[in-house]
Amino acid sequence: MTQHPHRLTDLIGSRHPLLQAPMAGAQGSPLALAVCAAGGVGALPAAMLAPDALQAELQTLHERAEGPWNVNFFCHTPPEPDAAHEARWREALQPFYDEAGLDPADVPAGAGRVPFSHAVADVVEPFAPPVVSFHFGLPAPDLLARVKGWGSVVLSSATTVEEARWLQAHGADAIIAQGLEAGGHRGMFLTHELGTQVGTMALLPQIVAAVQVPVIAAGGIASAAGVRAAMALGAAGVQVGTAYLCCPEASTSTLHRSALMSEAARHTELTTLFSGRPARGIVNQLMRSLGPLNPAAPAFPLATAAVAPLRAHFEALGRTDCTPLWSGQNASGCQAIAAGELTAALLRGFD
Ligand SMILES: Cc1cc2nc3c(=O)[nH]c(=O)nc-3n(C[C@H](O)[C@H](O)[C@H](O)COP(=O)(O)O)c2cc1C
Repeated sequence: MTQHPHRLTDLIGSRHPLLQAPMAGAQGSPLALAVCAAGGVGALPAAMLAPDALQAELQTLHERAEGPWNVNFFCHTPPEPDAAHEARWREALQPFYDEAGLDPADVPAGAGRVPFSHAVADVVEPFAPPVVSFHFGLPAPDLLARVKGWGSVVLSSATTVEEARWLQAHGADAIIAQGLEAGGHRGMFLTHELGTQVGTMALLPQIVAAVQVPVIAAGGIASAAGVRAAMALGAAGVQVGTAYLCCPEASTSTLHRSALMSEAARHTELTTLFSGRPARGIVNQLMRSLGPLNPAAPAFPLATAAVAPLRAHFEALGRTDCTPLWSGQNASGCQAIAAGELTAALLRGFD
């Protein structure tokens, strides 16, 4: 079925079908507000926010956002902690602990990212965000019904045609087709098989043909020409992440910004080392040394805890050896320009 490009703006109520990708750990309400003010749909990533911080950020967006905005949650099923696997992980990391002079026995295990839940929904409900997006599928039917009941438009990422069909059948109002180029975590949820993952240009038209809801293209889009290409392939809108990472309104660290604007950004890989799920980032020392998909990494999100103190140690020395340098394959849009300016440049792709 042919998509009409304006259907997404009707659904979301935005001036333009341009969404800023939620990027946990790299931005909060300042970036979202700037994108909204420029006519796009700004996003608040909530996967790593404690309830108090989430409430404060929602309050800010509720009071100050011009036009609709999006709040994003992960909806994974937390794994059972596995002591033997955790021990194998720390053993694999031992050379890094040795270099850092840290004792892994002093490092607490823990989750770091919590999935959407009724307790989180209690915080969100009074704000009835215009858009709620999910990564890793959708929450359980009763939770999803709650979100839809307070009036939010619901989005989620599909990385295969099967996931897109599943999301449509389970109530997503629009689907983000997340191509293999995309930075950060792959939203894959029906399979762990990385061989199923498809680039944006191949994935997008196949999802457009397979579902009736609007399809938003994500992955590798960093310019007006990229926006135009996605729209030509039937997208109802686009979602852009990596290109926003060097805007002053993002909270991306100085080390991460430098990597994004260097030659190093030409080599990204999918890695499970920082969380337990495959996510795309610039290759660094940990990925080179352990291999980006080392099976010693525990299930998502349990891999994070053991790496966290190593990351902090090396970052204090100005080194990114153990830092997740999330980036898509196309970092060419990363510039130190205001998010409003970048948004205006991307919007020209809809002319
Ligand atoms: C730094 C970073 C963090 C991300 N964090 C999230 C997140 O918290 N939730 C989410 O749904 N997607 C997240 N993503 C993925 C984006 O939603 C989107 O799929 C991706 O940025 C699009 O590809 P691009 O980076 O090539 O523009 C993240 C991406 C990046 C680069």
